[in-house]
Amino acid sequence: MKQCIENPNELKWDEFWAYELKQKEDRGKDWDKAAAGFHKRAKKDDYHDLLFSKLILDENDSVLDLGCGEGSITLPLAKKVKKVTGVDSSTKMLELLNQRAQEEDFDNIETILKPLEDITYEEVGPHDVVLASRSLNGIIPIKETLDTINKIANKYVFITLFGPENWKIEGNFNEYIGKENKHFPGHDYLFNILFNMGIYANVERLDIKAYREYDTIEEAMDNGKFRLDLLNDEEKDKLKEYLKKILTKNPETGKLYNKKDKADWILIWWKKD
Ligand SMILES: C[S@@+](CC[C@H](N)C(=O)[O-])C[C@H]1O[C@@H](n2cnc3c(N)ncnc32)[C@H](O)[C@@H]1O
Repeated sequence: MKQCIENPNELKWDEFWAYELKQKEDRGKDWDKAAAGFHKRAKKDDYHDLLFSKLILDENDSVLDLGCGEGSITLPLAKKVKKVTGVDSSTKMLELLNQRAQEEDFDNIETILKPLEDITYEEVGPHDVVLASRSLNGIIPIKETLDTINKIANKYVFITLFGPENWKIEGNFNEYIGKENKHFPGHDYLFNILFNMGIYANVERLDIKAYREYDTIEEAMDNGKFRLDLLNDEEKDKLKEYLKKILTKNPETGKLYNKKDKADWILIWWKKD
């Protein structure tokens, strides 16, 4: 007989999180290589407006932007607050961000090239708000990182993570070619890790409306989600065949799309006591 769990709050959610992530061999991405494509796609997304509609910011705030990337969030953020510190481990992402900041004459953005796992309160100091937008899903020492984040934030922490349907099309493709689907640990793990740390967070699924749309099948293959670098030639041909099957022309835009091919992001946020 299976043993009954007497106190679910004693479950070590951070260990489940780490275990599942380690099983997922394709969890890591070369963000230096992905930077230019990420920047191009960022313009089409309604994620940014949705996220900004949820952030609680004051013009005098200092914000720590963890996994800031090429600046699609950092730059508009810097227009709303006093100071933004962006941290990222990708040189290319930070190059793009710093270049854009210079072109647009920002003088309130600082960047730190560093893995998020290595940031410390002592190094970055207190900030009013900490934002980790779409950057924590691959972090293995998640509890320690959350602990540091919580220590750094004076007022609010905002985190976004993959929602359960974010990888739907990619999962369906894996089934199509008979490959096992390995998932990122769910946002419920992170909620429970926080709960066990005594942090009672708010959880909200962002209502993303925009479908991903493509001019060509090749663009759909290279949408930043399929790991082309891990597919062999035969699998790439199958991916092409699969996308030809599932993508249709959106009558409104004339572009290729599938109604299930949409980003799914969960916002988890809390107010500091
Ligand atoms: C999906 S992008 C998000 C960029 C931006 N925050 C946004 O929402 O548009 C993920 C970013 O997190 C960075 N990142 C991922 N894992 C990281 C880690 N362990 N340490 C530092 N940066 C990381 C990547 O380099 C990339 O720039």
